[in-house]
Amino acid sequence: MGKKVLVIGQGGRENALVWKLAQSPEIEKLYAAPGNPGMSCYAECIPIAAQDEEKLLEFALKESIDLTVVGPEDPLMAGMVDLFNKHGLLVFGPTAAAARLEGSKVFSKNLMKKYNIPTAAYEVFTDYDSACTFARSFTDNGRRVVIKVDGLAAGKGVVVAENWEEAEQAISAAMVEKSFGEAGQAIIIEECLQGEEVSVFSLSDGQRTIFLVSAQDHKRVFDNDEGPNTGGMGAYINPPIYTAELQRRVEETIITPTIKAMDSEGCPFRGVLYTGLMITDDGPRVLEYNARFGDPETQVIMPVIQGDILPLFEGVARGNIEGLNVTVEAGACVCVVLASEGYPGNYEKGKVITGLDALDDNTIVFHSGTALQDGQLVTAGGRVMALSLKAASMSEALEQVYKEINKINFEGMHFRKDIGNRALKREEG
Ligand code: AMP
Ligand code: GLY
Repeated sequence: MGKKVLVIGQGGRENALVWKLAQSPEIEKLYAAPGNPGMSCYAECIPIAAQDEEKLLEFALKESIDLTVVGPEDPLMAGMVDLFNKHGLLVFGPTAAAARLEGSKVFSKNLMKKYNIPTAAYEVFTDYDSACTFARSFTDNGRRVVIKVDGLAAGKGVVVAENWEEAEQAISAAMVEKSFGEAGQAIIIEECLQGEEVSVFSLSDGQRTIFLVSAQDHKRVFDNDEGPNTGGMGAYINPPIYTAELQRRVEETIITPTIKAMDSEGCPFRGVLYTGLMITDDGPRVLEYNARFGDPETQVIMPVIQGDILPLFEGVARGNIEGLNVTVEAGACVCVVLASEGYPGNYEKGKVITGLDALDDNTIVFHSGTALQDGQLVTAGGRVMALSLKAASMSEALEQVYKEINKINFEGMHFRKDIGNRALKREEG
């Protein structure tokens, strides 16, 4: 009998996971909860919200789901994996205790300090006055300083302050105005690092790790990294700065020590570890950990992983990946996110999307915020969809993906025109 797999989530990341899992010869039936129109050709979409863990549990038990893959961070931190495990279900994703690597910056920074994992120097504060004094010790010397709230803040919890006024504003927002609620009860103040950012994705069964691939996201909404931060406007794999030598160093000084540290702390990390690094002149430093796949990074990672991904996800979930390995296709893979007018601020929904049927066969479409309305595909989110494309080189992949984007249209559609430019410049030397 084939297996039944349930993917939890509704974004582009989950569309990419479903797309890859659908290629597994072992899977007989795929479900997505709640899923989106992009997933519905590969999976049956079940109208249960990703946060509704009781209903999801009931569904998984009733359908005898063989493996559940949790996409987003919120259900991980709320303990969905713990709940499913308690009922004997196999789940890909860390427990709530292990997901603190992402969910609490105080936890992750203290872990790094305790286990000598390279990261920016920092202090933790729960009191406004001492936070201000510490921040001033940077800004009075003309140095930038970074203010981070402890908990999840939908990507808005980190401020890189250029001067004292900006630093004070950020401290005050968290501690006086309490704009982040509980998430801002404690804050981190840390030195500002210089360098290029790289995201590294590794699978871990709690003891061992398998390096998947590195990627670079584009957080700002406009070209040349201008405008406000978004969830991510595009990505590509294998940034040239992340050499094999650097990967060995990161494995040895960051990834392996992190997994060992989590085990020593009694909360082994099983899942995908997404390590956000700054490559500084003094070597790689951890900016943050995430306890899940990235969005839109997953949209460039899944297309290049060769073979069946199911045994890897099952191995991670069971706590044994010994003997398993990952082969990543040679070449480049890029994705460009198409967003609604106004995103990441307010935007309208319900704009008709056209042109998908004109796309070439080698263009992969991953939906993020779309819906079906009277049989028509319409926009239903800030990030609407991503187009992913593989090619022999970055320049080829980029040329093709931008040609393909020209075929798609919806009112107010915008996207970055400079995805991958940094890598391209390095490629061209
Ligand atoms: P985080 O959520 O901690 O990764 O922070 C979000 C973004 O803020 C990162 O992707 C960096 O661009 C920036 N950032 C965070 N910490 C630092 C730091 N210590 N120095 C410079 N930039 C940082
Ligand atoms: N692309 C950034 C994230 O998934 O957190």
